[in-house]
Amino acid sequence: MKYPKEYLDEIKMRLKVSTVVARTVNLKKRGKEFVGLSPFKNEKTPSFTVNDDKQFYHCFATSEHGNIFDFVMKTQNLKFGEAVKFLANLAGMRPYTFSKQDEEREKAWKEYSSIYNQYVKFYHDALFKNEDSNNARDYLKKRSLSKEEVKKFKIGYVKRNSNFYDQIKKDFSDKVLIESGLFYFDEKNKIFLERFRDRIIFPINNISGQPIGLGGRTFQDKNYLAKYINSPETSFFRKGSNLYNLDLARKLSNKIEYVYLVEGYMDVIGLSKNGIENAVANLGTSLTDKQILVLNQFFNDIIICFDGDESGYKAALRAAENSIKELKPEKKISFLFLPEKEDPDSFVNKNGKDAFAKFTNENKVPIHKFIFNHYMKETSDDPSSMAIFEKKLRAIANTIKDNFIKKYILEFFLEQISSLTPYSNLSTSKNDHKKSKSLKSTQKYFNDSKSLSPIEIKEFSLLYILLNNLDLFKLRPELIENIKFFTSENKMIFEKILGELNIKDNLKLNDLEIDTQLTDKIFKFASIKHILYNNNDEQKVLELFEEIKRDLKNYELEYRIEELESKFSKDLSESTFNEIRELKKLQNIN
Ligand code: UTP
Ligand code: MN
Repeated sequence: MKYPKEYLDEIKMRLKVSTVVARTVNLKKRGKEFVGLSPFKNEKTPSFTVNDDKQFYHCFATSEHGNIFDFVMKTQNLKFGEAVKFLANLAGMRPYTFSKQDEEREKAWKEYSSIYNQYVKFYHDALFKNEDSNNARDYLKKRSLSKEEVKKFKIGYVKRNSNFYDQIKKDFSDKVLIESGLFYFDEKNKIFLERFRDRIIFPINNISGQPIGLGGRTFQDKNYLAKYINSPETSFFRKGSNLYNLDLARKLSNKIEYVYLVEGYMDVIGLSKNGIENAVANLGTSLTDKQILVLNQFFNDIIICFDGDESGYKAALRAAENSIKELKPEKKISFLFLPEKEDPDSFVNKNGKDAFAKFTNENKVPIHKFIFNHYMKETSDDPSSMAIFEKKLRAIANTIKDNFIKKYILEFFLEQISSLTPYSNLSTSKNDHKKSKSLKSTQKYFNDSKSLSPIEIKEFSLLYILLNNLDLFKLRPELIENIKFFTSENKMIFEKILGELNIKDNLKLNDLEIDTQLTDKIFKFASIKHILYNNNDEQKVLELFEEIKRDLKNYELEYRIEELESKFSKDLSESTFNEIRELKKLQNIN
């Protein structure tokens, strides 16, 4: 019986690999990983590594590799179900009890999987055996596929008048066969027909290598036929979360950091034939953030390589806006545009593996630059177009789930914009000398600001708004209640402002008598100033103020969560876990 993914994920979330392994292996931290003596071999120098981010261990001496379940199964000689029970207990969770529904789904999966396996094998074999598959074999040869690729990808051919339904109907109900998506019922003639008849079929596997869907290509030049069709969505085949060839590509993830994400089946196969096996394709739909998450479980670096035509570019832009949401520290997403009229298949067949790698290195663009460049091209040099441009970029940055990535990408966007708009007019008593920055000083700015923590920069922004709108906040004291500062200097300035606002009317910046070194720092590093310059709209100022307050609140939560997580990795207590969960909920609400 299969455990639901959510249950297994919960165990993995609660237990770091290092926590589990450290029960039996003495681990030492080394960079992002832990190392120790292999439990699979008698050794004197450590060759066993654990990576908590990637949720696996790897033994270089024996090539043993896996997650917490594998580790427990192998070192304690347990079956999978026993390992799950053991680890669930360790994670403070109740043992899982299978429901009637689980049993039914398990039964349905067994049937579905059996149908697909038989189907794929039957038509794969038929492609080699039958004389009337000659035309399909000729076509594959014309596409320069050898027997090796055809076998590796279990490619098949469904002949025009073949009907596997007649063979398989004795073992399965019509309902189940229809639900597989391989057959449909022809109402007029009252017969079951093959959906993929007269097509070359490409099996799409789940992550464990079991076929769950098909792509089918016609090789007839008839433009009323769709070039490719796919299996319909079924309860075991979800296009938005599956990727073609992920089952094979993922096996390389302990050797290669990056993966190519391409548009088509033939691209994956063409690359593989030329020795590039770390490639997957999305399935004729636009790329989803779920697919990025799945890929990121195995690869840190995703290179999205779309065709060098307009539809490829548009698909890439959609993919960029969808996938930037999931960008995480340590992970990279970049884009590669091939020369016009080429796709990865044609390019690599023409130029070979090394040229493809060279082209990649010279031409890939990180996701945030691609997005920036795209919208910049659409912008003209007038205020309303610039405003739309900035708004769009801010909106995109705001979809990013990880707060740190969000901050840095937003800063990248704003910094780029500010270098396009050299004359900032924000007038304050000290800062009206601000002029366009040369590249050098921009660089310095970045280097300086790198030594500041993200929280500090946020706090600067908050103080910046406050200092520039003293009158406004005098009238609306409720807006500055309950703000928590993390850095003591900023906290001191904030309290000073609060105090003075309370006693003085018509307060001016100079009356505050804050050390100018401190105010200079605020005016220099408040990232918000790029947004506010030339903007005296009170509504907008207040909106931004609230946004920063929210961000600070989130930092506070994040800080508290990190504290608790480190506590949890030691004590594994249910109550700490629940507290973390509550805080995470709050974080989502904010
Ligand atoms: P392409 O037309 O770029 O495919 O479509 P390709 O891989 O280069 O195909 P060949 O080289 O002509 O054989 C890219 C992907 O878009 C989906 C398929 O998943 C295909 O692999 N697609 C394309 C469809 O789903 N339906 C279509 O009619 C065309
Ligand atoms: Mn092609």
